[in-house]
Amino acid sequence: MAMHTDTPMETGPLREQLESLLHEHRTLIDQLQHGQDHFRQLARSVWRVQEDERRRIAHELHDGVGHNITALIHLLTESLAALPPESTDVRALERLRHAKAIAESTLQDTRSLSRLLRPQILDDLGLEQALRWLARTFTETHDLDVELSIEGDVQLLDGDRCTLVFRVAQESLANVARHAQAQRVDVELKLRDGLATLSVRDDGRGGDPATALARSGASESSGLGGIRDRVRLFGGRLHVDSAAGNGFCVTAHFPINDPERRTP
Ligand SMILES: Nc1ncnc2c1ncn2[C@@H]1O[C@H](COP(=O)(O)OP(=O)(O)O)[C@@H](O)[C@H]1O
Ligand SMILES: [Mg+2]
Repeated sequence: MAMHTDTPMETGPLREQLESLLHEHRTLIDQLQHGQDHFRQLARSVWRVQEDERRRIAHELHDGVGHNITALIHLLTESLAALPPESTDVRALERLRHAKAIAESTLQDTRSLSRLLRPQILDDLGLEQALRWLARTFTETHDLDVELSIEGDVQLLDGDRCTLVFRVAQESLANVARHAQAQRVDVELKLRDGLATLSVRDDGRGGDPATALARSGASESSGLGGIRDRVRLFGGRLHVDSAAGNGFCVTAHFPINDPERRTP
């Protein structure tokens, strides 16, 4: 009976070839992984620089421009008070009052713009207080009932991740105010088992998630597409759930820490 048995002569070179191929494959995967890690670090640095720049401009607007306008309002108030009412040119008085009103509304706009760029509370008091402030602001200015719940230790998040959570919440709430026609929004932050999860759920008109993400241009740095890309930079994912008439829910989850760097 003829039996086929592999002799070491036949399998040896094949095994060597296979091992060398496997080695090459592993090297390529490592290189790819390394390239991907490198790209992520680079993209995160760009984002960090952008946030630093926002912080600087916000500070300049608030403390530089803001203080000058405050001084201007003070001077206008003093000038108005110094004018003797009986001898005053009525038109001059009106102009001064008008100038003061313009200066006051410019001060409000400057402060809002500064907070929009980067609220100081995030750097001074941390994420929890910044989220509470954000919820309060949306409740007051958009007539929305914003409920915030936080579970777990927020201190576990580093500065970049605190900014990430804040930006996802800020953009999602801005979207609710702009598109949802909602009455109530639930913002939930959970930190559990090494994972951070932020969800923003409203009770508004909802919409098709795929259309929403498609509408949010891929190259846009803000909007849903922008925050989805940022969450990805931290090894996370962004989900959008919705059914027409049943509200909209944006959920971001990402690991609290970077994975251990592998030694090649
Ligand atoms: N809470 C929401 N309720 C209903 N539709 C929403 C909501 N959030 C986002 N959308 C939809 O998703 C689209 C994309 O959102 P986004 O990327 O933030 O862009 P933008 O707000 O500039 O339109 C919006 O144009 C809107 O149609
Ligand atoms: Mg938007």
